[in-house]
Amino acid sequence: MEKREQLYEGKAKKVFRTDDPELLIVSYKDDATAFNGQKKGQIADKGVVNNIMSNIIFGILADAGVPTHLVKQLSDRETLVKKVTILPLEVIIRNVAAGSFSKRYGVDEGSLLAKTVLEFSYKNDELGDPLINDDHILALGLATERQLAQVRAYAFKVNEVMKEFFLTRGLKLIDFKIEFGLCDGEIILADEISPDTCRLWDVKTNEKMDKDRFRRDLGNVEETYRAVLDRVRA
Ligand code: TMP
Repeated sequence: MEKREQLYEGKAKKVFRTDDPELLIVSYKDDATAFNGQKKGQIADKGVVNNIMSNIIFGILADAGVPTHLVKQLSDRETLVKKVTILPLEVIIRNVAAGSFSKRYGVDEGSLLAKTVLEFSYKNDELGDPLINDDHILALGLATERQLAQVRAYAFKVNEVMKEFFLTRGLKLIDFKIEFGLCDGEIILADEISPDTCRLWDVKTNEKMDKDRFRRDLGNVEETYRAVLDRVRA
């Protein structure tokens, strides 16, 4: 596989073309941003942690019947993936109240929810990724009814598989964000699953073991990313 020119640079990853038009190389960076890019920093070796962790989780999800873009890890920071057209949606699942949900609805972080929540944000930095509902998505033509139903079904499946997996590693899956893409007309899981995109709390102490340590200046950021990877690999 030959790496060709850079196609795109995002906040956390770079994407390169390859000699195969259907495959891309993703390269994970140590750059960290929060609050739509207003807070900027670096987390040493975050790129390594997120790359390896994402690939382990995507492997588990594929075994559970959720198709993903993962083809092959190439190095600590680089992975070969299927080229997809990303749906401009952040698909968020919440098991426990936290973050913007707690703020928006005035409920304490850690409050149990009577129902698992699926919410969508419209991926649009200029608009600040606004909350969007199923009707809005259809009205704007961001996905078809069939695609939306598939995305919802996969998102809940991802939640069930990940909740169980993280519990075996002493971590509670509070909430997470995933993204899907279209490949040969089918919906597949893309982007990443990492401490950047999940809230993970230690089962015993409720210690935050995710990007909230960076967002909220809680300290031990690098150590925590490394500890999460160690637990995932255990
Ligand atoms: P929120 O509570 O800030 O809406 O975040 C919900 C989940 O989504 C949390 O696990 C962090 C993740 N997330 C991202 O992956 N990217 C983002 O840009 C934001 C705002 C949240």
